[in-house]
Amino acid sequence: MNANDKDFIALFCRVILFYIFSSNSCYAIYNITSSHALSQGQTLVSSNQIFELGFFSPNSSANTYVGIWYKKFSPFTVVWVANRDNPVTVADSPSSLTIGSNGNLELLDRNRNSVWSTNVKIRSNNSSVAILSDYGSLILKDDTQSLWKSFEHPGDTFLPGAELGRNVKTGESFVLTSWNSNSDPSVGDFTFGVSKTKPPEVAIWINESKVLWRSGPWAKTKFTGIPDMDTSYGSLFNIVEDAEEGTIRLQYNWDYNNSDMIVGNLFITSTGVLTLEYKKIHEGGDWNTDWVAPATWCDIYGTCGPFGVCNDSESPIYKCLKGFEPKSFEEWSKGNWTGGCLRRNQLSCDKNTTGLASQRGKNHGFWKIDNVKLPDLYEYEIDYSDKESCQKWCLNNCSCIAYAYVEGIGCLVWYKGLIDISPYDAEDLFLRLADAEIGEREHALENVGDISTCID
Ligand SMILES: *[C@@H]1O[C@H](CO)[C@@H](O)[C@H](O)[C@H]1NC(C)=O
Ligand SMILES: *[C@@H]1O[C@H](CO)[C@@H](O)[C@H](O)[C@H]1NC(C)=O
Ligand SMILES: *[C@@H]1O[C@H](CO)[C@@H](O)[C@H](O)[C@H]1NC(C)=O
Ligand SMILES: *[C@@H]1O[C@H](CO)[C@@H](O)[C@H](O)[C@H]1NC(C)=O
Ligand SMILES: *[C@@H]1O[C@H](CO)[C@@H](O)[C@H](O)[C@H]1NC(C)=O
Ligand SMILES: *[C@@H]1O[C@H](CO)[C@@H](O)[C@H](O)[C@H]1NC(C)=O
Ligand SMILES: *[C@@H]1O[C@H](CO)[C@@H](O)[C@H](O)[C@H]1NC(C)=O
Ligand SMILES: *[C@@H]1O[C@H](CO)[C@@H](O)[C@H](O)[C@H]1NC(C)=O
Ligand SMILES: *[C@@H]1O[C@H](CO)[C@@H](O)[C@H](O)[C@H]1NC(C)=O
Ligand SMILES: *[C@@H]1O[C@H](CO)[C@@H](O)[C@H](O)[C@H]1NC(C)=O
Repeated sequence: MNANDKDFIALFCRVILFYIFSSNSCYAIYNITSSHALSQGQTLVSSNQIFELGFFSPNSSANTYVGIWYKKFSPFTVVWVANRDNPVTVADSPSSLTIGSNGNLELLDRNRNSVWSTNVKIRSNNSSVAILSDYGSLILKDDTQSLWKSFEHPGDTFLPGAELGRNVKTGESFVLTSWNSNSDPSVGDFTFGVSKTKPPEVAIWINESKVLWRSGPWAKTKFTGIPDMDTSYGSLFNIVEDAEEGTIRLQYNWDYNNSDMIVGNLFITSTGVLTLEYKKIHEGGDWNTDWVAPATWCDIYGTCGPFGVCNDSESPIYKCLKGFEPKSFEEWSKGNWTGGCLRRNQLSCDKNTTGLASQRGKNHGFWKIDNVKLPDLYEYEIDYSDKESCQKWCLNNCSCIAYAYVEGIGCLVWYKGLIDISPYDAEDLFLRLADAEIGEREHALENVGDISTCID
């Protein structure tokens, strides 16, 4: 059954059956129990009528999946799929969703072979019931507790009330995983979740290893590298850390009870783009795209390599940080900037004259770079709780190549390199440079293309 058929049936039901059942949905049930399975054609509905779970075939493909979508909603938008990698083929249809003999919720094909199961240990088999919560979580529970929740097994969509993140102690991580294509919900190449860094940030990964995009570190109320999120969605996201439990959880807050009944749909596309779209729940028309990441070349992680700076408004968009030059002029001139840049004038402490860069101004100082997305590979220095002590720490340790003092975080320092810098209305970064470079102050200030200004 495709979206149109479903719409048609829903309309049919509303018109014909409304008066009979005084309910506005057809074949809709509110729970699955050991005595009542959900069969193909029926749906399980949340009590607030916002979410619906049922059987669907993307773009009239031959495969059937069990999914959750926004009820009575156009365009048909699936937010979670149970059997992503195990579709039920036409030959094996119809299927049904039942409470199995071991108390788990199971998807059975026409031959009653199990295609998918919640697969948890359950003590008693006679009291399991599955419901769809008002937030769109499929929940299997018994008389006393919840046994399994779809919110703990995220798909490609981040629903308000669900949590992404990780548990440092158990090693578990909860991420969004893209579909393979618009019509194939099987697990794709892109994931979205919370990084292992301290402070955490959110990121999109390719094949769970390579970073595609990162948000910049979380600063209590916002991600430092997502400037537009700061103003319009101050409280859309929150990160909650529980040191005792070892958990870091990203929360996404959207109130469905807002006056206009606007739904915000946050998901990762099959091509790896994190997308926030919204629309009124009872109105026609397509989703309105509110925000996407990555949106530009400079949003893509490390486009211009270590010590490079990316500015989408310039051509070329790539440049070296002040005091640095292309690592390979040959690659650079061919338009390959991934090798990044190298320091032009060595710092004397690098040459190990004293082993310790003890005095400010000896042969290097800090150059202030205004308003940038803070680079990756930062470290949090918890002991340096004001700007001066942060600067002092960095100055006195020759391995420290840059620092930033960020409201909501504190002292961040960089030892290993600076990668993924782009100009945003974000934070100030202080870069260690040799005096020979800082001496070019006047020149730099006059240079409109230079993103640097000098501090003192
Ligand atoms: C399941 O739904 C039916 C009808 O809405 C209701 O009577 C029944 O109490 C529910 N059972 C459970 C276990 O929630
Ligand atoms: C529940 O489990 C018992 C023993 O484990 C089994 O005999 C019984 O058939 C099961 N009941 C259902 C409804 O599957
Ligand atoms: C369900 O199982 C529990 C414990 O296994 C048992 O005490 C209870 O009588 C059972 N209820 C029914 C309706 O079978
Ligand atoms: C369905 O197919 C059309 C045309 O092939 C495509 O544009 C659309 O994105 C597909 N939608 C889904 C949900 O697969
Ligand atoms: C992910 O890895 C697979 C297998 O190595 C590869 O075929 C695919 O191209 C990778 N995806 C991306 C987006 O690079
Ligand atoms: C909406 O508000 C009602 C009544 O205040 C409440 O019972 C319900 O849980 C809320 N639903 C959501 C999704 O916030
Ligand atoms: C770009 O340069 C890097 C090293 O600087 C090299 O490893 C890579 O192969 C180059 N890529 C292309 C497409 O030439
Ligand atoms: C740097 O200098 C210090 C003090 O002179 C010395 O102990 C140390 O071994 C040197 N380190 C290197 C890497 O040369
Ligand atoms: C400089 O910082 C690095 C990294 O934190 C540390 O390993 C090293 O001991 C520090 N050096 C000094 C002289 O404090
Ligand atoms: C980016 O480039 C544009 C165009 O040259 C320039 O106006 C802007 O100041 C640059 N941004 C930064 C932060 O350097």
